[in-house]
Amino acid sequence: MKFATTTLLFAPLLVAADSAYEDLRLARHAKIARQAPTPASAPPPSPPATTTPPVVAIPPPPAVSLLSTNPTAVPLTQIVAGQPSPATIPLATTYTAGTVPSGLPEAPGLPSLSSIVPSNYPPLDKLPPTDSPQVKAWIAEVAASGIQIPNILPTLPGGCGTNAQAASNTTNCWWTCGGCTREDDITSCPDKMTWGLTYDDGPAFYTPNLLQYLAEQKIKSTFFTVGSRVISAPATLQAMHVEGHQISVHTWAHPPLTTLTNDEIIAELGWSRKAIKDVLGVTPNTFRPPYGDIDDRVRAIAKAMGMVPVLWTRIGPYATFDTDDFNINGGITTVQQVLVNWKNILGNATSMNTGFIVLEHDLFPQAVEAATGYILPDAIAHQPPFKIEPVITCLNKPLRDAYVETNDNKTNPPVASGGFFLSSRVSAGIIYLAVYFCSTS
Ligand SMILES: *[C@@H]1O[C@H](CO)[C@@H](O)[C@H](O)[C@H]1NC(C)=O
Ligand SMILES: *[C@@H]1O[C@H](CO)[C@@H](O)[C@H](O)[C@H]1NC(C)=O
Ligand SMILES: *[C@@H]1O[C@H](CO)[C@@H](O)[C@H](O)[C@H]1NC(C)=O
Ligand SMILES: [Zn+2]
Repeated sequence: MKFATTTLLFAPLLVAADSAYEDLRLARHAKIARQAPTPASAPPPSPPATTTPPVVAIPPPPAVSLLSTNPTAVPLTQIVAGQPSPATIPLATTYTAGTVPSGLPEAPGLPSLSSIVPSNYPPLDKLPPTDSPQVKAWIAEVAASGIQIPNILPTLPGGCGTNAQAASNTTNCWWTCGGCTREDDITSCPDKMTWGLTYDDGPAFYTPNLLQYLAEQKIKSTFFTVGSRVISAPATLQAMHVEGHQISVHTWAHPPLTTLTNDEIIAELGWSRKAIKDVLGVTPNTFRPPYGDIDDRVRAIAKAMGMVPVLWTRIGPYATFDTDDFNINGGITTVQQVLVNWKNILGNATSMNTGFIVLEHDLFPQAVEAATGYILPDAIAHQPPFKIEPVITCLNKPLRDAYVETNDNKTNPPVASGGFFLSSRVSAGIIYLAVYFCSTS
C-alpha cells in the first residue's frame, strides 16, 4: 500500500481514531454483533424505540458547509443517539420469484422467498457451529484448495492494543494495525474522482429509505451484507440486487475475523455467502472483513473460498476514509463530527490521483439519514463531478464479474487455488484453459 504523499503520512489523523481499530477496542461493539432493532409486527414496520444512550461529552466540531442538502433531510439536531425511531418506509417494490435484474441479464431468476426458512440456518448473530455437516464440507473444500493457510495465531479481542506482538509483526500483514495490504486487496478505485460507494451491515430497517434515495439519484452502490440480516430481511436483499446494486459478503455474525480459529472463519464466510446465494441465486466473489480486520491467515482462507477482500481507502497508518457514521447511534460520535470527517475525506479524495472507497453503514437510521440528507447530496453537487458507482464497476469490470454464476472469468479470473493459475486463450476467445500447477515451495 502506498500512501498518497509523505505529508499525508504525518498529517493529523483523518478521524479521531480509525474506527476499525476503535471498534475492536470497544468490547461493547464486539458484543452487539451489528443486530438490527427487533422487528415490529404491523406493516409498514415501525422499529422499537431506541435505548437511552450512554452520556458522553463530545466537544462540538466546527460547522461544515455543504454544497447541497436534501430538502427532505432529517434536521441535524434530530440525528442523535436515542433519536425516537423514525417511521420506516416499505420497499418500493417487492420482486416476485423468477425476476431477473435488468442490469444483470446473465443472472438466474430470484428464488422464491418461501424457500428461505430461518431454521435451516445457524442461530442469528452467533458464531455458527463448526461441526455441522455443511461447515465440515466447506472445511474440506478449503483443505483441498491447495492454498496454504499460514500458521498465525488468532488475535485476542481488543485489536492492536491487546496484541502488541501481532500488531508489530509485519509478516502477518494485519491491516487493522498500520494498514498493510496485499496485492489482491481492493482498497480504492483506479480512476481519479471515482467513488466506489459502499454500505455495510444491512439489509436493515432503514435500507429501503437509502434504496429509494439511490433510485431517485440513479446511483448504484455495493452493499456488504451480514448473513444474519439477509435471513431477517431477504426481500430487501432481493430489492438491492434487482435494482442494480452489487451484493458482497460481510460474514454471518460480524465478529473480528482475526480473533477466530480457521474453522470459525470458514463457517462465518460460508454461511453468509450461502445466505446470499439462497436469497438471490448468485454467489458473491468478494467480501469485506468486519472492522477491516484481516491478516494473511484470513486472506488465505477467503482466497481458498474464492473471495477477494474489499477494504476502504487509507491515507496513513491510522487514517482511513471512515465517516464513523456507525457510531452516532451509540452516542460515541455526533452527526456533526461525521460531516467533518466526510469533508476531510472529500478534501483528500479530490487531491488523490486515484479514486477512493469510503466506509458507511445502513444498519441504523442515523447513518442512513446522514447519507441521504447530507453526504450524498453534497457529493452529487460536487464540481468537477464524482463518478459514484459500485466497487466492481469502479474497477472497470462489469457487474456480472461480481458473482460466480455470472462471471465469464475473462476480465475477472477467479482467485487462484494455490500455486500458479494460468489462463490461456485457446480458441476464438471463448474457451479458457486453466492450467494448475501445485506449488512446491
Ligand atoms: C511473526 O509471525 C509469524 C507467523 O506468521 C511467526 O512465524 C514469527 O515468528 C513472528 N515474528 C515475530 C517477531 O514475532
Ligand atoms: C486530509 O485530511 C487531513 C486530516 O484530517 C486534513 O487535515 C486535511 O485538510 C485533508 N486534506 C485536504 C486536502 O482536505
Ligand atoms: C469461472 O470459474 C469458476 C471457478 O473456477 C467456475 O466454476 C465457472 O464455471 C467458470 N465460468 C466460466 C464461464 O467458465
Ligand atoms: Zn460491518
